[in-house]
Amino acid sequence: MAALEDVESLPRGGFRCRLCHVPVANKPSLEDHLRGKKHQRLENLRTARQAQEQRSLFVSGFRKGTPASELSDYFQAYGEVVNVVMDKEKGVYAIVELKDREVLEKVLAEPQHSLGGVKLRVKPREKKDFKYTPPRKQGSAKREQLSPEKLAQELCQATDVDAQMSLVVQLFEFSEGERRLRDLLVALFQEVFLEFFPGAAILPFGSSVNGFDVSGCDLDLFLDLEKTKNFQASAKGCGEPQAEGGASPEPDARSEDSILSDIDLASAAVPEILELVATVLRKCIPGVHNVQVVPKARRPVVKFCHKESGLRGDISIDNKLALCNTRFLQLCMEADERVRPLVYAVRYWAKQQVLAGNPFGGGPLLNNYALSLLVLFFLQTRTPPVLPTVAHLRALSEDGEQTVVDGWDCSFPKDSARWESSGNTESLCSLLAGFFQVFGDYDFAGSVISLREGRPLTLPSFLASEAGSRLKLGPFNLQDPFELDHNVAANVNEKTALRFQRCCQNAAKYCRSLQYQRKSSKGRAWGLVRLFQPGAPEAEAPAAADSFVIGLPLPPAQAHQPPCQAEGAHQLSFRKACASIAAIFQEVLKCSCSETPPGLEEEEQQQQQVEAGLPAAGAKRSLDTEEGSSGSPPAKRLRADAVAPAQEGMAWQWAVWHHVWLGRRRVRRQLHGLQQTMDALELEATVSEAISQQEGEARPGSPLLQFTLCAQMGDGASSGQEPRLSLCFTPAPEQAAAFQEFFHFLQGFLPRLVRQHLASKA
Ligand code: UTP
Repeated sequence: MAALEDVESLPRGGFRCRLCHVPVANKPSLEDHLRGKKHQRLENLRTARQAQEQRSLFVSGFRKGTPASELSDYFQAYGEVVNVVMDKEKGVYAIVELKDREVLEKVLAEPQHSLGGVKLRVKPREKKDFKYTPPRKQGSAKREQLSPEKLAQELCQATDVDAQMSLVVQLFEFSEGERRLRDLLVALFQEVFLEFFPGAAILPFGSSVNGFDVSGCDLDLFLDLEKTKNFQASAKGCGEPQAEGGASPEPDARSEDSILSDIDLASAAVPEILELVATVLRKCIPGVHNVQVVPKARRPVVKFCHKESGLRGDISIDNKLALCNTRFLQLCMEADERVRPLVYAVRYWAKQQVLAGNPFGGGPLLNNYALSLLVLFFLQTRTPPVLPTVAHLRALSEDGEQTVVDGWDCSFPKDSARWESSGNTESLCSLLAGFFQVFGDYDFAGSVISLREGRPLTLPSFLASEAGSRLKLGPFNLQDPFELDHNVAANVNEKTALRFQRCCQNAAKYCRSLQYQRKSSKGRAWGLVRLFQPGAPEAEAPAAADSFVIGLPLPPAQAHQPPCQAEGAHQLSFRKACASIAAIFQEVLKCSCSETPPGLEEEEQQQQQVEAGLPAAGAKRSLDTEEGSSGSPPAKRLRADAVAPAQEGMAWQWAVWHHVWLGRRRVRRQLHGLQQTMDALELEATVSEAISQQEGEARPGSPLLQFTLCAQMGDGASSGQEPRLSLCFTPAPEQAAAFQEFFHFLQGFLPRLVRQHLASKA
């Protein structure tokens, strides 16, 4: 019976009617509901829609602007046409409803259709699950913008910090209307993609569904093409693909004008498929604009914007892990009622301090996912813990819950009622204070935060682990709970990591005051209000050049160096490190030092650099050979080597010729057999070589990226602290955005390789 398929069992004896989205407490209430008017009406509506679908065609390929009447006239030749619904905005497809299946069969029996001299693509309409969308209530989809003043006013009226935190959730979460708009958009995308990609599914993930929704946050979607791929494979294999149920053959995937006929989904590269997805978005989804493929992101996506609501979103096709971690976040939120307010408070605080929530992706700030994980990790480490570790959850998972995605174990009990409840009774107020206290003293660079283990992993032990050799270490190391070789904070630079810590220290100090803990009787700002005041991060939004800085510890000075020569020893270490850096760019990453521009004399060029506030630059030689001449005076080296030392530094101009920062992991896997025979540096050089070769031309017409690199001794050297080297990258002005990706790669890669290079030289 159809009604039984609509019923889903809930924990503790309850049920939910999937058709009407109605939860009920027990069996008698369920029976009442199934007999009730609402359910009966929707069942009838569903039956009518299904019958309508079965006699409808999806037609595309006609000229833009073709009126519905022309299509109707054309199909009238086969029998009665009941209705033609045109895709309103873009006019590139139409749903043609015929009188019955018989007429439909006649149309489909015709091998080819054309109208006005162009070939039509005609196929049966995709069968869709019927989804009831409750009628829109009054009110706009988007919450009214909440001004900081209004927020402060509302928060000041709460009774205590716990109440303030709950209020933050209420003020920021989606309104009913906004949630509905997202559901409608997802349903629309599903409908359209299904027409072009049989079997495809559109699945939302991220903050729209994980319980940490903030009004206006972006809509992350995963387009699952697994079934489409299978369908295409079977269509190719036997030439007679069977639609589900084995009835009528699907004509579209094998007909020569199908959107799928141009592409083999199983072997096509992700960017190629994304281009196709972008075409469908641009041409066939009403209200969608600003469609843009971002093929080089870690997870390539198509970005889009929904015109009417201003909602921004991403579609990815290779991101199943995100569905899993979204479910995990959602379960953590359900498992303890303190999780949600805590995450909201920390997110808003971090946003106000310009530490997290970079809306454009990239950049050196923590993303919201990383920040949420940080809160969850903090809750795992309380005594007693508020949340269990991921390893513990894995042990609790039962047979049907064992899940492996992309090779990673993602098993956990899928119902939070089966998670052990926490004995922790701390208030929200004290948990928030604890968060700042813990991370104000945290060594982000010297350990790896592990949600799997629920504790920080020290670097030596982590590096010895399997994932350790692949995770991109940097100034902020936060391991994904499932994809263990992914540092979700790999983009965070040293400056942001330090600022995060400092902001936590300041917040922790404030949380110790009475102003935080008690409501002001004099109407002053108290509790969260002061915490949420915009921070004045020293550099505010960092200038582009400023943000491209990587700090490295200098190699230790030689043991036999007398203390009175410590400074000289530091300089020697500095030069050694510079030699390693140059060798890595030149020999491992296959970059070249750019030529001096024709007609520009060296002095003239240096003068220009000095005027621009940069140390002089311009070089062609590997610094690997520099070590031998490290004792020679800088001015001399400047002439002899054309590598210019600034007063306490070095500078180079580098050109990058190939995308050596992309897909290294994949290539490394392909070179699996060689890993045993090569040292790490040779292996990385081979990986770059392989990437260059895959890209064809040894030296394309012009480099992909050009940048100046200035290495300088950090302050520590003169103040007796551990000496550090600071590397400042200045990309060509028009390349700043493109350079970011390369820079993020360098943040993890360069420190590791410099360490290895120095060790190999020692
Ligand atoms: P976001 O950082 O956008 O988080 O990542 P969010 O919770 O959706 O917050 P908003 O949208 O900025 O408010 C979106 C999703 O992408 C996946 C996670 O599923 C996350 O929820 N993701 C992100 C990863 O799987 N790994 C990452 O490194 C980053």
